[in-house]
Amino acid sequence: MNDLRVKIITYGCQMNEYDSHLVASELAARGAHLVETVEEANFVLVNTCAVRGKPVEKVKSLLGQLRKEKQRRGGRFVIGMMGCLASLEEGQAIARDFGVDVLLGAGAIHKIGEALEKLEPFWDVGFYPELDEVVPPPPAGALSAYVTLIRGCDHHCTYCVVPRTRGPEVSRHPDLVLREVEQLVAAGVVEITLLGQNVNSYGKDDPSYPDFADLIRQVAALGVRRLRFVTSHPMNFSDRIIEAIAETPAVGQYVHLPVQSGSDRVLKRMAREYRRDYYLERVARLREALPDLVLTTDIIVGFPGETEEDFQQTLDLYDEVGFDAAYMFAYSARPGTPSYERFEDLPREVKIERLERLIEKQKQWSLERNRAWIGREVEVLVRGPAKEEHWALGHDQSNHPVLLPAAEVAGPGLYRARIEEASPHMLFGKVLEPALAGSVSP
Ligand code: SAH
Ligand code: SF4
Ligand code: F3S
Repeated sequence: MNDLRVKIITYGCQMNEYDSHLVASELAARGAHLVETVEEANFVLVNTCAVRGKPVEKVKSLLGQLRKEKQRRGGRFVIGMMGCLASLEEGQAIARDFGVDVLLGAGAIHKIGEALEKLEPFWDVGFYPELDEVVPPPPAGALSAYVTLIRGCDHHCTYCVVPRTRGPEVSRHPDLVLREVEQLVAAGVVEITLLGQNVNSYGKDDPSYPDFADLIRQVAALGVRRLRFVTSHPMNFSDRIIEAIAETPAVGQYVHLPVQSGSDRVLKRMAREYRRDYYLERVARLREALPDLVLTTDIIVGFPGETEEDFQQTLDLYDEVGFDAAYMFAYSARPGTPSYERFEDLPREVKIERLERLIEKQKQWSLERNRAWIGREVEVLVRGPAKEEHWALGHDQSNHPVLLPAAEVAGPGLYRARIEEASPHMLFGKVLEPALAGSVSP
């Protein structure tokens, strides 16, 4: 593979980012060169997302460009597609249309080496337990890294493709998780994010594994300075997990807990398995245990059949909880999902109008919640220069994005800072002292 020059392009969530790193490491171990641009590459691998229509459109447009590049180079150019969209028939049809040579579903990505050894097209959309045995090496120079805990999803939210793209829940063996974390800590990583579509379910599929609450403690005991996890399902967010968070300083007081809707009628049609009151009770319990809790969520607006009154209940729930931030989406009807088969989509204008109203609400709350941090001291993990001139970008222990004056920052690393100003999307701080300077220059 010495003449293989690979460019990986990643769409989708953190699980895809982790998977792209895993594949890049497999390729590098086999002698391939990882390059920065499509022009330098003779193999372009697209890691895809299928959760909404938009990422699918993006993949199609990229594949269109890659097909042209392949023609321009007289066919001496390999197009690869992997990840969630590749797991679906919808994606496989797209792959055929665009002349994709190598296709690996989300459960077969570790077969990348095998795929490239064969000089013929290679398609594999199986789900292989061996994938979970791969322990990728620490990303070079990184201060922050992901570790996959559990793949797949056993819930059946009616709008969601993920149970089909990533299969049923499979927890990784705790020894592998702990070994991976140990390597990252030894390499100087200060922040680890544990990943899964539903991390709270960790260990349910194997009685010999610790549950998520115990695993948090075991991982933190390895000396992880900051420990985070995404994402959580309210149904699996037990008191045991809340206790473990409260007892583990490395976790801080940050939780992402997707609610999706504030209306029981809509939650039922979504098959979310809980009611509004249950969600509010989990939030109350969390706030009791974690008085400085920073709580973020995901919300879908314009789910089929959502009335103005249902939507109003989502706005009311937002006021009742006062989320610090939210990822908000207009419902996207995805082929093959139960809600696509069963329900009629609302008009686009209705969805967009509601989304705009929700974003307005979110901005007000985020500004109010962020302002409460003015004057407080936080520890900021600076990643590098911000888009905004003269500022460096990082995030604090509660996952707020924080801008620090570039002149006060020597490079990526941890800094103690005092928050001086807030906007709906950012905190602005002043550096008090470096807590731990990183080894990488900006
Ligand atoms: N497993 C996670 C989230 C997975 S997808 C969870 O259950 O919370 C991330 C987010 O995308 C979801 O929380 C949901 O808000 C959104 N999403 C998923 N499918 C969607 C669809 N068909 N239309 C719009 N948003 C969707
Ligand atoms: Fe999708 Fe629901 Fe599973 Fe999350 S819990 S991945 S939204 S099916
Ligand atoms: Fe997308 Fe797959 Fe993640 S569908 S959101 S890349 S799990």
